[in-house]
Amino acid sequence: MLTQKLLSRLKNASAVTALTGAGISAESGVPTFRGKDGLWDNKKVEELATPQALRNNPELFWKFYRWRKKLINEVKPNLGHYSLVDFERIYDDFFLVTQNVDNLHREAGNKNIVELHGNIFNTKCADCDKSHTEPISESTQIPICNFCGGPLRPDVVLFGENLQEKNLRAAQEAAAGCEIFFSIATSSLVEPAASLPFLAKANGSYVVEINSEETPLSQHADECLRGATGKLLPALVIIIEKLQS
Ligand code: OAD
Repeated sequence: MLTQKLLSRLKNASAVTALTGAGISAESGVPTFRGKDGLWDNKKVEELATPQALRNNPELFWKFYRWRKKLINEVKPNLGHYSLVDFERIYDDFFLVTQNVDNLHREAGNKNIVELHGNIFNTKCADCDKSHTEPISESTQIPICNFCGGPLRPDVVLFGENLQEKNLRAAQEAAAGCEIFFSIATSSLVEPAASLPFLAKANGSYVVEINSEETPLSQHADECLRGATGKLLPALVIIIEKLQS
């Protein structure tokens, strides 16, 4: 059951921001980061997706990323992703901030989006930072930059790295300027993304969490919707369309 307050905001809002995390892609088959999914080949993802792993064990680093890219290449957006395309159609000022690097929001059709942690299909040089567009070969070798000879890497934020300033600023502006802020299928543990709902709330936004489980945000959110994004988000779209018709 949604509260009258949320129904009224859903009906009248024009500025809506959504922050998504790994859970929205779980129903497409992309493993999440924490819990039982947070291991690859018995190693912690947090230890593989690091600048240190790229430097000290580039073969293993690329083995992990080739596996992850292949897996992501084979999956498709689900109803949760497509519902956020409906949000973008419905609300004049809808902005999507995602922590996911899997490109599934873009594939579904969202345009007004910032990928806070990058995109796994983009590649750059770890030394000279130049972007590379050519596909990464399937071979086991470490791909090399043809400008400077340095090792290539996926253009994603690795554990311990800073976000791109312009992406963070765009996300913060969207959080501070919205009437409703949805925190969707994220553990709300990783900064700076975890602070965005608090920034939204401090600026008068109504904060709604959508997650199958409780998170550190739950007790601070104005409303929590418990369940799977693939069910809750399409149901919300139907409600919003009814409210606005
Ligand atoms: P996590 O894997 O930490 O959390 C996924 C969240 O989604 C959990 O809170 C689950 O309860 C929830 N969840 C899972 N399936 C769901 C479903 N079908 N419907 C609703 N909720 C569901 O992923 P994130 O919080 O997104 O960063 O992780 C944040 C960042 O941590 C990642 O972007 C990554 C990692 O460090 C970098 O790699 C820089």
